[in-house]
Amino acid sequence: MEKRFKVLQVGCGGISNAWIPHVSARDDVQFVGAVDIRLESAQALITKYGFDCPAYTDLATALRESGANLVIDNTIPESHHDVVTAALRAGCDVFGEKPLAGTLDDALDMVRTARETGRSYSVMQNRRYIRNNRSFQKIVQSGTIGQAGFIQSDFFIGAHFGGFRDVMDSPLLLDMAIHTFDQARFVTGSDPVSVYCQEFNPPGSWYQGNAGATAIFEFANGMVYTYSGSWCATGCNTSWECTWRVSGTHGSAVWDGSEAPWYEVPEADNDPASFIWKTGKITPEADWAGHEGHQGCIDEMFAALLEGRKAETDCADNIQSLAMVLAAIESARTGQKVKIDMQEV
Ligand SMILES: NC(=O)c1ccc[n+]([C@@H]2O[C@H](COP(=O)([O-])OP(=O)(O)OC[C@H]3O[C@@H](n4cnc5c(N)ncnc54)[C@H](O)[C@@H]3O)[C@@H](O)[C@H]2O)c1
Repeated sequence: MEKRFKVLQVGCGGISNAWIPHVSARDDVQFVGAVDIRLESAQALITKYGFDCPAYTDLATALRESGANLVIDNTIPESHHDVVTAALRAGCDVFGEKPLAGTLDDALDMVRTARETGRSYSVMQNRRYIRNNRSFQKIVQSGTIGQAGFIQSDFFIGAHFGGFRDVMDSPLLLDMAIHTFDQARFVTGSDPVSVYCQEFNPPGSWYQGNAGATAIFEFANGMVYTYSGSWCATGCNTSWECTWRVSGTHGSAVWDGSEAPWYEVPEADNDPASFIWKTGKITPEADWAGHEGHQGCIDEMFAALLEGRKAETDCADNIQSLAMVLAAIESARTGQKVKIDMQEV
C-alpha cells in the first residue's frame, strides 16, 4: 500500500542511526533512497536496515528519481544549506540535524525558502525531549520560583571525536552549544537580545579550533544567562545536558542534567528579619510521557506535518537558537557585545 511519507535519507554517517530505527518503525513511512557523497556509506546504510531502495551520490538525481516527499538531512553542518534548500525546492518537507546552518545568511535563506515553497523544515533539538528537562522547564515556567532572573549552565566534557569537529573553527559553540542555548530558550520561554562572549582553545586541547567559551546573554524578559563550556575538559565531567541553575524572585531551581531537577522556596514559618531564609527542597514527579531524545523530537516533527502546523523546532523558531551561537562567535571575534534581533524572521 502507498505510504504517506516517502523518505530520502541524505547523509549516512553516525547520527543516522539515531533516526532510522524510529522513523522506519512507522507504518506511514517508506524509505525511497539513501544519498551520501560516499556511495559506500549510502549502500552500507541500505544493507544495515534492509531497505529496498537505491543508493545515490547526487542529491539532485535522488530528488528527481526517488519520488521522495520527505528528506532527512543528516549531513555535516556545512552541507545543511544546500541539501535543505534543494529538497524544499523539489517539493519535499525536511527534517534535519542541528545546527540549522553554519551561517546566519544561510539560515535566513533556508527559512525564506521554506516559506516561499510552502514546505516545512524542522530541526533536531533532542535535548528538549528529555523527561527531566521537561520537568525543569515546568518548574521554571509555572512560576513556582517566581520570575526567572539569572540562569547559568556549565558544560565540561573531554570528547575525542576525530572527524569534522577536530578541524572546525568553533567546534564547541557551533556544534555543541546550539543544544545548550536552545535549552536556555526552551526552559525559560524567552529569546536572547545580546551576548558578550570569549572563545578560546584551552591549554592541552586536541582541537584545531576553539574548544572553550564563556558567554553572557541578556534575554528579552530581562534575564541574564551565563554559559561556560569546554570540549577538552578531562575529568570531573558534567552531563552532556549541562548542569543548570535558575534563580527566580521566589526561589531557585537546579538540574544536574541527568537526575530529576528540584527547587527550593522559602519555608512558610520564616522570620522575614532572619539573615538567610530557611528553604525546603522539592522534587516534583516527572509527568511527561512522550518518547525521549531523538525519538521525541521525531514524533513531534511527524505530528506537526500530519496536523498541518509548525513543529516546536521549526526553522523559523530554531533560528533564534542558532542566532545565539553565531552572535557569540561574532562577539568572541570582535571583542564586542553583540545585539541579537531575530524578531522579524
Ligand atoms: N542531535 C545530536 O545529538 C547530534 C549528535 C551528533 C551529530 N549531530 C549532527 O548530525 C550531523 C551529522 O553528524 P555525524 O556525526 O553523523 O557526522 P558523520 O561525519 O558521521 O556523517 C555525516 C555524513 O554526511 C555525508 N555528507 C556530507 N556532506 C554531504 C552532502 N552534501 N550530501 C550527502 N552526504 C553528505 C558524509 O559523507 C557522512 O557520511 C551534524 O550536523 C551533527 O552536528 C547531532
